[in-house]
Amino acid sequence: MKTITIASTKGGSGKSTILSALAVRATQETPKVAMMDLNFDQGSLTQWWHVRGKPQSPFLVQNVESIQRDLRVIAAMGYEWLFIDSPPTGMDLVEQAVAVADAVIVPVRPGFFDVIAVQTVTWMCRQHRKPFAFVLSAVDGRYKTLTKQTLTALSGLGPVLKTQISYRRPWIAALVIGRTGPELDKDLRPEIGALWGEVKNLAEKGSVQ
Ligand SMILES: Nc1ncnc2c1ncn2[C@@H]1O[C@H](COP(=O)(O)OP(=O)(O)OP(=O)(O)O)[C@@H](O)[C@H]1O
Ligand SMILES: [Mg+2]
Repeated sequence: MKTITIASTKGGSGKSTILSALAVRATQETPKVAMMDLNFDQGSLTQWWHVRGKPQSPFLVQNVESIQRDLRVIAAMGYEWLFIDSPPTGMDLVEQAVAVADAVIVPVRPGFFDVIAVQTVTWMCRQHRKPFAFVLSAVDGRYKTLTKQTLTALSGLGPVLKTQISYRRPWIAALVIGRTGPELDKDLRPEIGALWGEVKNLAEKGSVQ
């Protein structure tokens, strides 16, 4: 089983949105996809999974007490992918989620404060020797200069995935009905397909190609 942690200590960077879409995209290839919601305060992913109808795939590991023990249990159950959603605060939990990952994806919205905020997670990834990469999230096509500046600043801090997640209404609207942006709007399928390809690559090869 490969474990993908989505982490960023910046609230609202798109972690749960991207995680749910990646998990759903992964189910196109295998039904053995699980998710863990470590955002115990808000439980956005948990709510989304309930609204979706508590599917078996992607399955949500519930009542997580020990990340490592639950991870061993679901690996033994034959799950191929585990996606861990982490909270923006509670460094202990974020670090545990990083420590068990095969790859860490750090969503970053274009913006100055957003770039500054990546440092905590990148430091954790380096401490634990975990492959990580940034993904630009909620990219508004109207602000090309801001996106370019963010990309330049980020590439000095670590690898940046080629895929960018666009700022589009279906990404928001889908969550309320337990779905994902690409399920609602076919125009978003290429971006999640491309991101999934890059995430698999990072988890399997340990570096961005
Ligand atoms: N690509 C996108 N386009 C438009 N809106 C987006 C996009 N991604 C996320 N959003 C919206 O931004 C808000 C925050 O997204 P999300 O909850 O995924 O972030 P998060 O990092 O999980 O937040 P938290 O740190 O609070 O857990 C949500 O309202 C979501 O619908
Ligand atoms: Mg979240």
